[in-house]
Amino acid sequence: MVFRRAPPLVAVILALLGALPGWCRAQAPPTSAPAAADPAAGGDTEFPERSAGDDDAPAGGTGTTATRPQRVRPLPIDMRIDRKQPIPPAPPFHMGREIAQTMHYTGAPWLVRESRQREEDCKLLLEALEVRPGQTICDMGAGNGFYTLELARRVGPRGLVYAVDIQPEMLRLLSRRAAAEGLDNIRLILGTAIDPRLPAGTLDAVLCVDVYHEFSHPVAMLERIRESLAAGGRLVLAEFRGEDPAVPIKPLHKMTKAQVRAELEPVGFRLEREFDRLPWQHLLFFGAPASATPGPR
Ligand SMILES: C[S@@+](CC[C@H](N)C(=O)[O-])C[C@H]1O[C@@H](n2cnc3c(N)ncnc32)[C@H](O)[C@@H]1O
Repeated sequence: MVFRRAPPLVAVILALLGALPGWCRAQAPPTSAPAAADPAAGGDTEFPERSAGDDDAPAGGTGTTATRPQRVRPLPIDMRIDRKQPIPPAPPFHMGREIAQTMHYTGAPWLVRESRQREEDCKLLLEALEVRPGQTICDMGAGNGFYTLELARRVGPRGLVYAVDIQPEMLRLLSRRAAAEGLDNIRLILGTAIDPRLPAGTLDAVLCVDVYHEFSHPVAMLERIRESLAAGGRLVLAEFRGEDPAVPIKPLHKMTKAQVRAELEPVGFRLEREFDRLPWQHLLFFGAPASATPGPR
């Protein structure tokens, strides 16, 4: 109605304004929003529906498939967190490092921004992981699934990707994106700040891209991740390099290699491999040998 009555120039301006949000999102800075959503909302299992606007986030991605496969139903989200499990207050610091706030789901478009490949060389990161068909991998702190979808393609139909996040909204976005790509070898799990709810002793790798520095309870998360690894499984951390002032990310969202090691080694992880060719990030591969394990696995 407004458009029909408005003079043509006003209509054009309004139409241009309507296109603005998408452009603004692509430029959004990597800042954290104040609080994560209440994960207790919702039932035990959720089947997200497709809705208008679901296709707002395909810009980035490291997709290697040229054609888009047939759509499938949005994947269910396992929401069965233990709502009675007490979560201790989050400490502001861990081992001298200030813990960053969780990136809010409204910032999700930044994770699939067009420039991400150019800035972070995500394809190189994926190649460095050396994912093999049939593997079981967790994308921890999966967000809206930038890495999850490509991991799912790489492990193939015989493999499985667990996508864990503490924000149900992120998992809903991921579920719809997976459906749009025709991928169904992904299990979506709502975790809590102290429990990613992974099966024990099964994972070939747990990948945390720009996530570890956000763990509000890092020791509890590391212990649960260690328990989830199969023999020979790896925890892989990608963190913006804290030693490098040229990396244009706020210091709170960066980590030095020394800090990462100082935090992971007391929990039973050993640095096994480093990949130093990413433009902005450390990529660190940790094993959890039984000899380094502080408690029972
Ligand atoms: C900066 S985003 C990165 C998303 C994704 N890894 C990527 O690179 O596109 C960090 C994500 O980690 C999630 N997160 C933070 N703490 C978490 C925890 N304890 N368990 C699972 N996810 C967590 C946040 O909700 C957010 O979606």
